[in-house]
Amino acid sequence: MSEDRKLTLEDFRAETENLIEVRNLYKWFGIKSGVFQRVTGHVKAVDGVSFKIKAGSTMGLVGESGCGKTTVGRTMLRLYPPTKGEMLYRGQNIYNADGRTMRTLRAKLQMIFQDPYSSLQPRMPVGEIIGEAVREHGLVPENQLREYVLEIMNESGLQPHHIDRYPHEFSGGQRQRICIARSLALGPEFIICDEPVSALDVSIQAQIINLLMDMQEKKKLTYLFISHDLSVVEHISSHVGVMYLGSIVEAGPKEKIFTETLHPYTKALFSAIPIPDPSFEMHRQILQGDIPSPSNPPAGCKFHTRCPECMEICKTEVPEWKEYSEDHFVACHLYDGVGKDAKPIVKKDVAMDTAKKKTAKKEQNKKAKNKE
Ligand SMILES: Nc1ncnc2c1ncn2[C@@H]1O[C@H](COP(=O)(O)OP(=O)(O)OP(=O)(O)O)[C@@H](O)[C@H]1O
Ligand code: SF4
Ligand SMILES: [Mg+2]
Repeated sequence: MSEDRKLTLEDFRAETENLIEVRNLYKWFGIKSGVFQRVTGHVKAVDGVSFKIKAGSTMGLVGESGCGKTTVGRTMLRLYPPTKGEMLYRGQNIYNADGRTMRTLRAKLQMIFQDPYSSLQPRMPVGEIIGEAVREHGLVPENQLREYVLEIMNESGLQPHHIDRYPHEFSGGQRQRICIARSLALGPEFIICDEPVSALDVSIQAQIINLLMDMQEKKKLTYLFISHDLSVVEHISSHVGVMYLGSIVEAGPKEKIFTETLHPYTKALFSAIPIPDPSFEMHRQILQGDIPSPSNPPAGCKFHTRCPECMEICKTEVPEWKEYSEDHFVACHLYDGVGKDAKPIVKKDVAMDTAKKKTAKKEQNKKAKNKE
């Protein structure tokens, strides 16, 4: 097949084990300056990211604010034009789809955002919001549309009388249900959920997560779940990818990422997860230094300016993306053989040591009290 041929809907029919595959994706935003608004640099928001998502599974994407999670999602769905790379759906690159095919693919590949209010038309009643795109795509005959919308609303936990109400008449959780219903109405196969519960009360978060999980089972959906909340990611995901400064530094099955954590950045991130046990002493690892700018990322390993395990080699050589154990990938010189004999040059786990000392001190105090 010629590289230049635009792909049609027929090309996206194949059954594939990985419904989604992202290959070496880059999204750089130009920085313009001066009177002539010349591009003088780039924000490297997504800087060579690759991953696969099996049909029917959920991949969680985690990382600090500004590391590029939303940009990955938006670029995958062509809401931003990619700088470089491929986004395969059913084995074919959607960036090569012709315009008509892309419109149809938009129904199959959806995105749900953090702030449900700003993504809902304030002057449209709920029935219209959910039914509008269904009508545009001609998915249901006009005389069955209302019935169809009511059915989707019911599945999404909305009441029939909500159909004629406006977004401002709903709570945050109900608005997110409307957004989910609008997506489901188009019969999607893949949904990118970008912080879908971060703006909601904790009590409502669980309801929305349960709705997403129920719908996944019922409709065999595949998710990319973007979140700051590691406990939520652990609950909903089967696989997890950890992002730092535009790159994925560790990825693999959830159990391995949470229990056999490899990358020093992932370890620091996970050390902040609260444990609901008052007797448990938190060993939170506080990373030193600020997050470097994505327009001027550090040479070598991008994490080396903050890494407690940093070695001399980390400052100059980019670590290779390696499969450490089955399906568990990491980019770090501690595991690629290159840095096997090198010694850390930064004092290791200062925060960890302090926490351990605190625990020892408490134990001593306890013993002293018991003696008294
Ligand atoms: N449209 C844009 N133009 C220029 N820079 C952008 C644009 N969108 C995002 N960026 C920059 O790209 C980087 C990644 O942003 P992004 O929103 O993807 O991060 P994020 O991981 O989703 O953060 P958060 O957790 O806060 O939502 C940031 O430095 C951001 O300032
Ligand atoms: S490559 Fe070096 S600096 Fe980067 S995470 Fe590994 S040990 Fe730390
Ligand atoms: Mg974001």
